[in-house]
Amino acid sequence: MNVGPNSELDDTLIFLVGFMGAGKTTVGRALARHLRYAFFDLDELISARAGKSVQEIFADFGEAEFRSLESAAIDSCRHMVRSVVALGGGAYVSEENRVSLRAIGKTIWLDCPIEICLKRISGDKSRPLLRDDDNMRALFVRRRAAYAEADYAVQAGELSPEELAIEITTILNS
Ligand code: S3P
Repeated sequence: MNVGPNSELDDTLIFLVGFMGAGKTTVGRALARHLRYAFFDLDELISARAGKSVQEIFADFGEAEFRSLESAAIDSCRHMVRSVVALGGGAYVSEENRVSLRAIGKTIWLDCPIEICLKRISGDKSRPLLRDDDNMRALFVRRRAAYAEADYAVQAGELSPEELAIEITTILNS
């Protein structure tokens, strides 16, 4: 595989997977800048398509409807090229989504320690699934096996977004 600004006929699509607060959006933007790719945030695509924020979708229609909009948004990514997409924290938990994502791109798990995620997300009103720390730790534990099915994993707790962008590029090109 050859990703980056100098690669030829490159239709690579890269998806960042991981828990809330793992840095998917921040690292995704840095990676896209580094590769000179487009960047998309799946939650923003879902909101734009629904004409409502993620919070409003959860409040008005419930989580099940959000998950079905999320799967449809993943499906719509199949036409993208040279793009980095930050997925929402629950998107890779669904087997159906994992199958779709495997068919259209490469997935990278930002494996970030839960205590760092908790520091970043605590008190954030825009995350409808946010509960107390113990609930978040339990959710994290339940989801790890799904995240571990990503094509590649990087340790995301210590490095800067730019350092992670370089590491991910190296992994994809190795
Ligand atoms: C969710 C994570 C959120 C968003 C929605 C559900 C989850 O995205 O998709 O609130 O199930 O973990 P972030 O991971 O960007 O916070």
